[in-house]
Parts: sequence; structure tokens; C-alpha cells
Amino acid sequence: MVALQQQQEGVPSGTEKTTHFGFQTISESKKADKVAEVFSSVASSYDRMNDVLSAGIHRLWKDHFVRSLNPGRRPGGSPMSILDVAGGTGDIAFRMLDHATRINHDTETRITCADINADMLREGERRSLVDTPYGGTDRISFLVQDAETLDAIPDNSVDLYTISFGIRNVTNIPAALRSAHRVLKPGGVFACLEFSKVRPAMLDAIYQRYSFSVIPMLGQLVAGDRDSYQYLVESIKMFPSQEQFAKMVEDAGFMLPGKGFEELTFGVASVWKGVKPLH
Ligand SMILES: C[S@@+](CC[C@H](N)C(=O)[O-])C[C@H]1O[C@@H](n2cnc3c(N)ncnc32)[C@H](O)[C@@H]1O
Repeated sequence: MVALQQQQEGVPSGTEKTTHFGFQTISESKKADKVAEVFSSVASSYDRMNDVLSAGIHRLWKDHFVRSLNPGRRPGGSPMSILDVAGGTGDIAFRMLDHATRINHDTETRITCADINADMLREGERRSLVDTPYGGTDRISFLVQDAETLDAIPDNSVDLYTISFGIRNVTNIPAALRSAHRVLKPGGVFACLEFSKVRPAMLDAIYQRYSFSVIPMLGQLVAGDRDSYQYLVESIKMFPSQEQFAKMVEDAGFMLPGKGFEELTFGVASVWKGVKPLH
């Protein structure tokens, strides 16, 4: 439980650099710990809550995200090295391997599920052993990593970098994008699935009402944790617009196909893609 009292701890002194944690302004140095508290708190209920809060729609978005990336060996090509950052409990990683195996008949493509939070990764590893054929094999590994630095991942080593519902929790988003660019091979693909701005405005008004009243309440009822779910809705509201985030991806050195993003379900979520240039 992320108690409100604890949230006061991050209040900045006059000279420290600040950032937002939901609607609060806190010291930059405190954000990672506070995000970690949220995800440690929700780790065991995370998958159930995703289904409850989105009526299962997050599964359709994730299926679409993975299908659109078509992971796996191409005819005459090599197996892929995939890095799923902020991979949490493995939702994207399992889908990637399922797609590579079933659609591209590739049993060699591997994925690293990287996350800053060991509790989320433990839940992912448990699921990989119980629910998938990949647990305990060399096709999947779980690694504690900060998206901002990715210090265990060599330069130019990754074919496909994904981050799903993770980037808005990162303190320094430009640093995370620069690290994505660093670890990708030239020609490698960056892909991000994240909540975004709902359009048109009338639908947004309904969505805001749902998110700020129903989601924290369900968080309390189903997971016994109102504060963590309050943070989740506030962090969605604070995330840049589709166009602003596309610009940030471009500024990190990626080439964007078309306008750089695709809106899903009236913009409740969007997918951004970029390619690391060959030269
Ligand atoms: C909402 S969950 C998303 C999990 C999964 N990708 C999915 O789509 O279901 C956000 C994840 O981001 C992780 N995270 C937050 N800040 C991070 C950082 N700086 N580096 C890596 N992971 C981070 C959290 O620990 C959490 O597991």
C-alpha cells in the first residue's frame, strides 16, 4: 500500500531537480523509488486488475502490438534478439515468443524481459513456468534493469526493443529513448505501447470521469490499494500527447514511419514506432 503519508517524503527542497509523480511534484531522485513502491504493491494483483479495469481490452491492444511487429526469423534471416523493457509480468514477452513460434515457425528467437522491479519480474518468471512452455529455457530471461541506462545490454545488440505501458513511469524519458537507440542494431525497431490522449473531446470527458472515479475505487475493492491506482490514472494524464511523444522518439535519433504513431480505441492507447537508421 502506498500511503499518502509516505508520498510526502519525496517533496523537493528548493535546489533539487523536480519531476511529477502522478499529480505531485517530487524530487527527481525520489521518483524511481516511489514508482517501485507502486509496482511492488500491485505485482500480485497486476494481471487480474488489468483485465478488470480494461474489460480485457488491454489483451487486444497487446495482441495487435505484437502482431504488427511480426517477431521472429524472416525467410533466409537469423533469429531475433528482442528486448522487452518494463516487461513486468511478461505479457508482451510471452506473446512475442508465441508469435515467433506459431506464425514464423521460429523456435530460436529469444527475448529478455527487463524491468526495474524484481517483484514484477518474479511474478513474470512464475507465470513463464506455470503458463508457458518458455519458462526455464534459453528463450526467455528476466533481468533487473533501469530503462534509463540498460547498463547490462551491449550497444547495437538488439533487433527489436519494446516497451508496453512502461515509458510513462520512467523519470527521464529522453534518457530511456537514448538507451533504446544505443542498444538497437542499425535497422532495429523501437516500439512503444502506452496510454495516450483520447479524442474526440466528448469521449475524453467520459473517459476522464471513468478513470478518476472508477479506477481508484476498483483498485480499493479488488486489490485493496486505492493509492497505487490513483497514481496510475494520474500518470496517464501527465503523459505527453501522441504528437509530443512522437517528437521525443524522433529527437532520440529514430526515423519515424508516417506520423510515427497509431491510435487504438479512440486514442485510449497508442503505438509509436521508430527505426534506428543504418548510418
Ligand atoms: C504498467 S507495468 C507494464 C508491464 C507490462 N509491460 C505490461 O504491458 O503489462 C509498468 C512496468 O514498468 C516498470 N518500470 C517503471 N519504471 C521503470 C524503469 N525506469 N525501468 C524499467 N522498468 C520500469 C514497472 O516496474 C512496471 O513493471
